[in-house]
Amino acid sequence: MHETLFLIGFPGCGKTTLGKELSRLTGGEFIDLDERVEQATGLTVKQLFDQRGEAAFRALERQALESAPLDGAIVACGGGTPCHSGNMEWMNAHGFTVWLTTSPQRLIDRLCLPEHRFKRPSIARLTDDEIAQYVHSTLALRAPFYSQARMQFDATLIETAEETVLTARRLMQALKQTKDTAR
Ligand code: S3P
Repeated sequence: MHETLFLIGFPGCGKTTLGKELSRLTGGEFIDLDERVEQATGLTVKQLFDQRGEAAFRALERQALESAPLDGAIVACGGGTPCHSGNMEWMNAHGFTVWLTTSPQRLIDRLCLPEHRFKRPSIARLTDDEIAQYVHSTLALRAPFYSQARMQFDATLIETAEETVLTARRLMQALKQTKDTAR
């Protein structure tokens, strides 16, 4: 049985983009935790934050995590998943965690785009400068959680479909090497 892969990292680092490509390459089921929470509640993540508050969202996120299949699925977590409810320990006990890293400037550029910004409650009302500050300060707070991942991988190159395929292939090779070395 293959281990389930938990992709973690800052919003905009490509967890969903690369997760879908890995699923295509490996045949493992793709699970997006935010989507699971939205399906379970019938509300968007933004509506949940606005109407029920972050604590309620984090409890639902934990439930979604625990209901993920543990047989080779590829789970794209939310950016805050590893930092709440002991989720990092849970993921390390039940699968293989990978921290997808990207340069802070690339994250800022992506998150300032309307399609990224307005679906994310924590940045939807911020100016470009405030998003830049948010990325730097939140990344510093979250790094101690993210760095508990079994592996780190530079996922910066996912701007085009071709880059995404190449980066997903590189990630698969890196995973194999890391697991072989750990044996
Ligand atoms: C969050 C990131 C989001 C989503 C929610 C909270 C965060 O996921 O779970 O808006 O705390 O950083 P993405 O990383 O897919 O944006």
